[in-house]
Amino acid sequence: MIGKIMQDAMNEQINKELFSSYLYLSMAAYFEERSLSGFTHWMRMQESEERVHAMKLYDYVLERGGKVTLKAIEAPKTEWKSYLELAEEVAAHEAKVTASIHTLYELALTEKDYASQVMLQWFITEQVEEEKNAAEIVANLKLIDERGTGTGVMILDHELSKRGAG
Ligand code: FEO
Repeated sequence: MIGKIMQDAMNEQINKELFSSYLYLSMAAYFEERSLSGFTHWMRMQESEERVHAMKLYDYVLERGGKVTLKAIEAPKTEWKSYLELAEEVAAHEAKVTASIHTLYELALTEKDYASQVMLQWFITEQVEEEKNAAEIVANLKLIDERGTGTGVMILDHELSKRGAG
């Protein structure tokens, strides 16, 4: 059975993953309002991945005989000054999630909760990919001259429309 300290920390993480999903859904709407279907696709994929992350933790807590407690999800932002600002926010958000997963892992070490350590290793690996993807889009947007004609944004939008999961 999962210990209370670990259970409560997992419940906090479920909330963070659901907030991530909510944030990316808001970003998807922002892009869709601007008819950028590739960026919208990217954000919708991210959004559904975050729900998968939340459900992984949700299922795990229950599997270990714990109690899932869902908390209120904070309202996400709805506007950004530029596509670059938005992408930088995704990158910063993923870095925050990584730090939170690492804290959870450290707690599992302190608690000598071996099952949680193994489960969290999946998240540690996943975060490497999440951070890499976000950094790539930030780098691409930086290459595009935002004062230009927008051709670069259109090319990147087309590229993102082909993006698969992960
Ligand atoms: Fe669930 Fe994007 O980290």
